[in-house]
Amino acid sequence: MKFFIDTANVEDIRKANDMGVICGVTTNPSLIAKEGRSFEEVIKEITTIIDGPISGEVKATTTDAKGMITEGREIAKIHKNMVVKIPMTVEGLKAVKVLSAEGIKTNVTLIFTANQALLAARAGATYVSPFVGRLDDISVNGTELIRTITDIFSVAGIKTQIIAASVRHTMHVTECALAGADIATVPYKVIEQMTKHPLTTTGIEKFQKDYIAVFGE
Ligand code: E4P
Repeated sequence: MKFFIDTANVEDIRKANDMGVICGVTTNPSLIAKEGRSFEEVIKEITTIIDGPISGEVKATTTDAKGMITEGREIAKIHKNMVVKIPMTVEGLKAVKVLSAEGIKTNVTLIFTANQALLAARAGATYVSPFVGRLDDISVNGTELIRTITDIFSVAGIKTQIIAASVRHTMHVTECALAGADIATVPYKVIEQMTKHPLTTTGIEKFQKDYIAVFGE
């Protein structure tokens, strides 16, 4: 399983990129709004940091296929790495069909069932984004959905990649990897938490203490 970072914050993207662990970025309208800068400005800066797939979503207020197609073409023009993120609706699927026929990569977002993932894949989506955490929030096992979609795509020979999204904690990451997700898109905070273990911390402290006792600072 590969990692994308799920943020529009360029400082967090830089920090994760410097660690060498991420190969792409996902954003959404809420994450862009949080930065208080225009979509174009934020996305263009992200393209200068990461050389990998960058998902930029169509406007939250655009709900018809025609509008999503027009915006999708504009997003794709920003940079060769752009992936157009489109919500899972009937209109969204129509947009995916047109954009993917034009060679534009798409990421169908807000996936909460295996059937939605299957439809998105058949419409031509490059990626599907099942939201693990938001399912857990309503007492539905989110990582189980990743496993089901993985099984279906494998049985059907579907090449669409599964991005485990709405990842909230480190156990989600392990569970999504075991369930067969191709990618997990993870907030910086969770990436940082994944580096930690109390025995690593105390181990480093002991090595330092033992070294200093003999060789000094
Ligand atoms: C996915 O691409 C979304 O940006 C994101 O993972 C949503 O996460 P949330 O449910 O924590 O808002």
